[in-house]
Amino acid sequence: MCGIIGYIGKRNAPDIVIDALKRAETRGYHGFGVAVSTGNKFEIRKKGGEDCLGDFLELVSKSLLPKSSYAFGHNRWATHGTPEDRNAHPHLSQSGRLAIVHNGIIENYSVLKNTIEKETGVSLKLISDTDTEVLVNWIEYVQKLSKLSLKEAMKSALENVEGTFAFIVASLDEPGVFVGAVRGRTMRIGVGEHEGEKEFFIASEVYPFSHYTQTYVVIPSHKLISVTKDGYIVEDTRTGLVETPELKKLEITLHATEKGEYKYWMDKEIHEQPRMIENVLQGRVDLRDKSVILGGIKEYEKDLANASILHIVAHGTSFNSALLFKYWCEAIAGIPVNVELASEFRYRKTLVSNGSFVIGISQSGETADTIVALEHAQELGATILGICNVEGSHMSEMTDAGIFLRAGRELGVASTKTFTAQMAVGMMLSLHLARIKGVLPEGSYQELFEELQSLPLYIEEVLSLDNPNIKLALELLKNASSAYYIGRGVSYPIALEGALKIKEIAGIHAEGYAASEMKHGPIGLLDKHMPVVAIATSSSQIDKMISNIKEAQARKAPVIALVTRGNPNNVPADIHIELPEVREEFSPFINILPLQILAFRLALMKGKNPDKPEGLAKSITVE
Ligand code: F6R
Repeated sequence: MCGIIGYIGKRNAPDIVIDALKRAETRGYHGFGVAVSTGNKFEIRKKGGEDCLGDFLELVSKSLLPKSSYAFGHNRWATHGTPEDRNAHPHLSQSGRLAIVHNGIIENYSVLKNTIEKETGVSLKLISDTDTEVLVNWIEYVQKLSKLSLKEAMKSALENVEGTFAFIVASLDEPGVFVGAVRGRTMRIGVGEHEGEKEFFIASEVYPFSHYTQTYVVIPSHKLISVTKDGYIVEDTRTGLVETPELKKLEITLHATEKGEYKYWMDKEIHEQPRMIENVLQGRVDLRDKSVILGGIKEYEKDLANASILHIVAHGTSFNSALLFKYWCEAIAGIPVNVELASEFRYRKTLVSNGSFVIGISQSGETADTIVALEHAQELGATILGICNVEGSHMSEMTDAGIFLRAGRELGVASTKTFTAQMAVGMMLSLHLARIKGVLPEGSYQELFEELQSLPLYIEEVLSLDNPNIKLALELLKNASSAYYIGRGVSYPIALEGALKIKEIAGIHAEGYAASEMKHGPIGLLDKHMPVVAIATSSSQIDKMISNIKEAQARKAPVIALVTRGNPNNVPADIHIELPEVREEFSPFINILPLQILAFRLALMKGKNPDKPEGLAKSITVE
């Protein structure tokens, strides 16, 4: 959500920044902009609007920027102000001598604005509706008063700024220097070399520069940075001390994958799930002694297995996978699991303390709600662990230990393959803890372990089925304004995830319910216009599930049912989507696939871009 990027080095900086903005596109596509200093002014090219990368690229191709060794840019996910040109970053101060790009929220921006106006007696002539423009004027105001360098003025200005942010500022008076600040966020500095000279990239994440350099440092919260062509200085804003962050090297290649035969990332990401699962399992399952190896949490695994309860915090799709982990971990390893939306966990009185384990699950590793919940748990004394996909992400840096998903970069805004990877890690962790704890009979363990190995084959089979009934289901859903997704047991989180997908991608209102919950209220809305998607593959609760479907049919709701091949349970429905039989514990891996495909194809039918659902961004870095 909002991406910032800066470059200093021998390459042509505007080109690097524009390339990086394309690569980080899914952080926000409500605005794109780039700024270059010509010495006496900033040349800025920017575009705002819904999904405006194309317009921005056209602008920069027609209106070329001067060549420079120093430039910075931004992609925007709107918080303050609608998506239009004037709200896109970079923003200038009133004098035009400072320029800023910013990710985050300045909570007291109106107080800052009022203070400037009251103290100077002059109204700010703001061009945008953003908190960012107020911030750059606040820095300019403090600098004018104090006559300090940009860095020192920023340090002083920040004392009165409330909120969480990462931003960089450049000044015409100090050419070749970026000064940046981070609070409640992280930033990265990529450290490279080109034609015998050092080069530096400042960015919200490593991906935009990972094809230029794999070496980087993470700038955590409460830091001030200054970057020039010769190096960078990192200072703690609380202690004033200069720090030397550890140089890191990317271990996983993040190089851009190509869309290949696919037109959309989402389609590609759905179809690469079999290979992705192989990658998730590789090196983590020892076929000789049928054990799971999770090196990232080795130090904590015995304590985890003996914990009286595990707390999981997450949002969205990651929350749905966390629910599945709860079902598996409790059933397989006998360890109680509390799953909560991170934002709720953070702001209520939670009973975690020394000795507690709090695990964050996040694809991006940047979700602000999840990050602050983990920080809070750490302050309360808990050990915090992370399950995330992005190396070098905020979560991966802040947690005591963790497990990378290894799903490869996900570019579609809606999570698909990373949900499946989260499930696979959840299942592996449950099996691993069960074995350490010794609670599962060896035979049952071996059966589950073997089924885990077969996942890529099952998934491949489902993805290769061209089920004609999917078309019928699409016809039924495309005209609906609302739909219910229902399931029981491990199919309940899948109902939640299926409903989330169609809501996000196809713009159809949908709710996921535990099937039994329908009769406690939602059933009142059922009629012939409200389709019900029932996850009704073979399970220990299939008879009860059938009763719930009948209740929906009695109210004339059309039913699309996912059923086990041959429909051995005689599930009543208007449309049956048959799926191969797998053990009930593993059915979520199979059942989610047609629901992802339905959402994707519905989005296309409705003329939407499934990769960039309106109003959403890939990582949500505000609370
Ligand atoms: C759904 C989706 C979102 C995210 C949620 C959490 O397709 O992508 O619901 O799952 O914003 O994001 P992460 O997993 O990055 O913490």
